[in-house]
Amino acid sequence: MQVIIVDTPEEAGRVAAEEVAKVIRRVGPGVVLGVATGSSPLTTYEALVDIVRSEQLDLSQASAFALDEYVNFPVDHEQSYTETIRRTVTEPLALDPARVHLPDGLADDLAAAGAAYEQAIREAGGIDVQIMGTGSNGHIGFNEPGSSFASRTRPVKLAAQTREDNARFFDSIDEVPEQAMSQGLGTILDTRTVVLIATGEGKADAVAGIVEGPVTAMVPGSILQFHPDATLVIDAEAASKLQHLELTRDLRK
Ligand code: F6R
Repeated sequence: MQVIIVDTPEEAGRVAAEEVAKVIRRVGPGVVLGVATGSSPLTTYEALVDIVRSEQLDLSQASAFALDEYVNFPVDHEQSYTETIRRTVTEPLALDPARVHLPDGLADDLAAAGAAYEQAIREAGGIDVQIMGTGSNGHIGFNEPGSSFASRTRPVKLAAQTREDNARFFDSIDEVPEQAMSQGLGTILDTRTVVLIATGEGKADAVAGIVEGPVTAMVPGSILQFHPDATLVIDAEAASKLQHLELTRDLRK
């Protein structure tokens, strides 16, 4: 795992976007992006827009798959992940909306919708680069502590901590959905490259667990230790509980 420590969320965005751009340049117009909502990737999306524009990278054939979407939540609500991805990714990067996919949280049969999402990812050729954050409890996607390492896209219950963390996007915690559809840890492990952005003291425990382990379902992001190409872009606050920073940095590729 490559750990890059930066000074500000803006710098994190620039560094993470450059990691993503490397994949886009290598793969070309048909690149398959994995995208996340939340605050962490916002500066990355902004910096990526700048790179795509200045280098005139062709994303006309690119597709994107979101990590998750709330269950039983109107997709036209401004806090739905469908709307969030449209606002922060699809429109700024001028992606073809028909090629931007989210799990169907309104399906009658959520398990079948999860399987269909996995099939769509496979048919697209798999995810070339997954942009993501982590929850304060170490979740990735909405794979909360205790998630199976073999899990695929499926309905999940949100942890109390996650609902508290996400209450800032709503008027009250009661409005935060209780369930989501999320790509599984197995799905995430299949992506070719992972770029995870984490900033602020609230992510320090999660980052320490993800980078220094042990690998455990209780810190789902720790499974990234098994990923062949994962980069963490973090600031000093998020890095503040790492005990073996010199070792990790020495292991940078
Ligand atoms: C979002 C997602 C979540 C968030 C995580 C961090 O699609 O899958 O794992 O990345 O909850 O959220 P922020 O970045 O808002 O702290």
